[in-house]
Amino acid sequence: MPLTILAIESSCDDTSAAIVKDGYLLSNLIAGQEVHRSYGGVVPELASRAHQANIVPVVDQAVRKAGIDKKDIDAVAFTRGPGLLGSLLVGTSFAKGFALALNKPLIEVNHLHAHVFSHWLREKGQEGRVPGLPFLCLLVSGGHTKLIIVEKDMKLKEIGSTIDDAAGEAFDKCAKIMGLPYPGGPFIDKLAARGNPDRFNFTKPRIEGLDYSFSGLKTNFLYFLRDSVKGNYRFIEENKNDLCASLQKTIVEILTDKLIKAAASSGIKEVGIAGGVTANSGLRKALAKIGQEHEWNIYLPELGYTTDNAAMIAITAYFKYLDGDFSSQDTVPLARFNI
Ligand code: KG4
Ligand code: ZN
Repeated sequence: MPLTILAIESSCDDTSAAIVKDGYLLSNLIAGQEVHRSYGGVVPELASRAHQANIVPVVDQAVRKAGIDKKDIDAVAFTRGPGLLGSLLVGTSFAKGFALALNKPLIEVNHLHAHVFSHWLREKGQEGRVPGLPFLCLLVSGGHTKLIIVEKDMKLKEIGSTIDDAAGEAFDKCAKIMGLPYPGGPFIDKLAARGNPDRFNFTKPRIEGLDYSFSGLKTNFLYFLRDSVKGNYRFIEENKNDLCASLQKTIVEILTDKLIKAAASSGIKEVGIAGGVTANSGLRKALAKIGQEHEWNIYLPELGYTTDNAAMIAITAYFKYLDGDFSSQDTVPLARFNI
């Protein structure tokens, strides 16, 4: 019997719907929200309203593009959290209504699990490699920075996390200080390619164990620019590429130093990254090099599946369906949702 799952992702500012059939991706539609750009960050109230406007056309297109009929859907999956509550409510309510109308089961998905399981996404004709287990994954997004082990039974274990800002937040906040648009990560990445990464030195945290911290770097960057601008009001403009390259190098080193430590202490050689920041070319390049040095098998998600998408929710839900792990109609979204 074929197994077809519709999944919905609405945890932040992307409304996305995807269809997975028998573990293969058939469609993945994402509607982004330009409305936040001029505010320098996501405005939760505006995000919920945009989800409300986008969700029906996005689901409709995902079903059409997959070439299936609504009655072929065997289960409806949704992101339960973590995320913005108003945004999550739109996806959750839609999924509940849709599942009820189709008389099919509901499957809740933890957004963080889904980023990690994006490594198991496949399309017909593009079989790709999937990680062996146990798998060590660095999850780096706008809201989270975590070191996670996927155990042999596919259960997830968190072994490290940021104690303050996430890596994506560090990129975005430092970009804002330089007057770059939101989200700043991709802009820093682009400018860094033309800069000298060794020109400036920024603070790296000294934290024991496998936890991360990025707030010290952000403050160091802010004060350094504030002082430099006092001497030359065009300092940022004249040094933007080098500032971006040096900042990116520091963030990448902070991320990879702990990943190396985690791989050494766990003995795991199946190593990957997941989440929005994995689109960063400096991180991808550094990981390829470190992977070779440490003889790891490296897994980098395809660029289309780094930032938020429903395809990753659908593949996670597929595994949950096979496990018989369903949710009830009274499930509520969770702004905070641990691994
Ligand atoms: O996973 P994601 O789409 O959303 C969250 O769940 O947070 O990640 C978004 C984050 C933003 O902070 C964005 O600046 C960052 O990913 N990002 C990047 C790049 N592309 C996206 N950061 C650095 N370099 C990039 N190329
Ligand atoms: Zn995410």
